[in-house]
Amino acid sequence: DESMTREQAVSGFQSHDPTERTRGQYRSLSFSASRRSVMPAWVIDKYGKNEVLRFTKNAALPIIHYPNEVIVKVHAAGLNPIDISMRGGYGAATMAMKRDPLNMNQSGSEFPLILGRDVSGEIMECGLDVNYFKPGDQVWAAIPPWKQGSLAEFVVLSANEVSHKPKSLRHVEAASIPYVAATAWSVIVNTGGLNKDNGSKKRVLILGGSGGVGTLAIQMVKAWGAHVTVTCSQNAERLVRDLGADDVVDYTAGPVEKQLQTLQKFDLILDNIGGETEKWALDLLKPWNGAKYVTLVTPFLHNTDRLGLADGMMQSGVTIGCKVLKHLRKGVHYRWGFFAPSGPTLDEISEMVDAGKVRPVVEEVFSFAQVPQVFQKVEQGHARGKTVVSVIEDQKE
Ligand SMILES: NC(=O)c1ccc[n+]([C@@H]2O[C@H](COP(=O)([O-])OP(=O)(O)OC[C@H]3O[C@@H](n4cnc5c(N)ncnc54)[C@H](OP(=O)(O)O)[C@@H]3O)[C@@H](O)[C@H]2O)c1
Repeated sequence: DESMTREQAVSGFQSHDPTERTRGQYRSLSFSASRRSVMPAWVIDKYGKNEVLRFTKNAALPIIHYPNEVIVKVHAAGLNPIDISMRGGYGAATMAMKRDPLNMNQSGSEFPLILGRDVSGEIMECGLDVNYFKPGDQVWAAIPPWKQGSLAEFVVLSANEVSHKPKSLRHVEAASIPYVAATAWSVIVNTGGLNKDNGSKKRVLILGGSGGVGTLAIQMVKAWGAHVTVTCSQNAERLVRDLGADDVVDYTAGPVEKQLQTLQKFDLILDNIGGETEKWALDLLKPWNGAKYVTLVTPFLHNTDRLGLADGMMQSGVTIGCKVLKHLRKGVHYRWGFFAPSGPTLDEISEMVDAGKVRPVVEEVFSFAQVPQVFQKVEQGHARGKTVVSVIEDQKE
C-alpha cells in the first residue's frame, strides 16, 4: 500500500486481506506487551525559567487512545520561541482548554509537561484506523502546543498531523522544518492568499527574515516565483540572499521604514517582528489591490492568559475587528496569522525539499543531554535558522 494517497487512506480505503489485519493487531499487541511503561524525557513540573527543566527516565510512555493516532519514536527534536514562552506559562489558559483529558494525568494537571514542537523520527505503532503510515516509516511533524512535545523518546500524534519526512534529509535536518514551515504555510497560503499558482510577479516583504519562520518563508515564496524583500541584521544578509532574497534591508542601519518606503509597494507583508512595525508597515502595501499584511505577533494567547478564555477571546475579537476595519478604509487588509498543524501541508513541503526548492537552515545541533543549553540558546534570540536536538544519533542514511 506504498502508493496509497492520504485521501484514500483517510476515506477508509484499506486492505481487506484478513492476514494483514491480524498481523497489525499482533504487531501492536506484541509491542505493547514487551514495552516499558516509562521513557526518558525533559519535563517541567511548574512554569518558570530554565531551572524548571528536569530530565527524567520515568516520564509516562504515551499510549494510543484514538484509532487515528500514531506513536513516533523521536530521532531529532526542534525548539521554537513558543517553547521558551510556554516554559514560562504562556498560553496556559488556552492550552488547558485544548488538551485532551485522556492524555493528562489523573489530577487533571498539565504537568509534567514535555516541550518541543518539532519531531523527525520513525513510526512505532499505529491506531487501527491508520492506513497511511506503518511502523518503520520515517516521518516528521509539527506538534500542536496543546500536546506533549518531542523532548522525549516517544510522542503520540494524530496521523493527520504527521507526514513522511523528505528522503533527502537526515533527522536532525528534518527536525528544523515542520513548525516554522507549517506556520509559514498557514500565514502565506491560508491567510495571505499567495500560493504556487499565483505567486509569480507578486512582491512580498518579510519583516524578520533570518529566523526560523523567515528562512522558510523566503524559500517558499521564492519557489513560487515571487519577488522577495527581507529585513534582517546586516550580518544575516548573506544567509537570506543565499536563500533567495532579492532585496535586503538592514534594520540596524537606521529607521527601516524609511528605506522600505523608497521601494515599490508590496502585495503581501509577513511580519515576524510585531510591536512598532504595525504603525508603518501597512502603508507599504499596494492599496485597493487585495494586498495583505499578516502578523505572527498577536496578543491572542496573552489576552486569554490575562483575562480568561471568554473575556480574552472577546478582547482579541474587538482588537482585531477594529484594526481590520481601520485598514480596510485605506484599501488594505490586516490579518493575524497562526501556526496550524497539518500533515498534508508537510507532505507538500516534503516534496519541495526533495525537489531542492527548500533546504533546512540548521544553526546548531545539541545532544539530548544538552536540552537546557538549547533553551538558553533559543531564549537569547538572534536566531539564524533553527536550533535542533539530536535525540538518537543519526545512523548513516
Ligand atoms: N502566532 C503564531 O502561531 C506563531 C507561530 C510561529 C512563530 N510566531 C512568532 O513569530 C515570530 C518569529 O518566529 P521565529 O520562529 O522565526 O523566531 P526566531 O527564529 O527567533 O527569529 C526571529 C529573527 O528576527 C530577527 N530580528 C529581531 N529583530 C528584528 C527586527 N527588528 N527586524 C528584522 N529582524 C529582526 C532575529 O535576529 P537578530 O535579532 O539578530 O536581528 C531573528 O533572526 C516570533 O515572535 C514567534 O513567537 C508566532
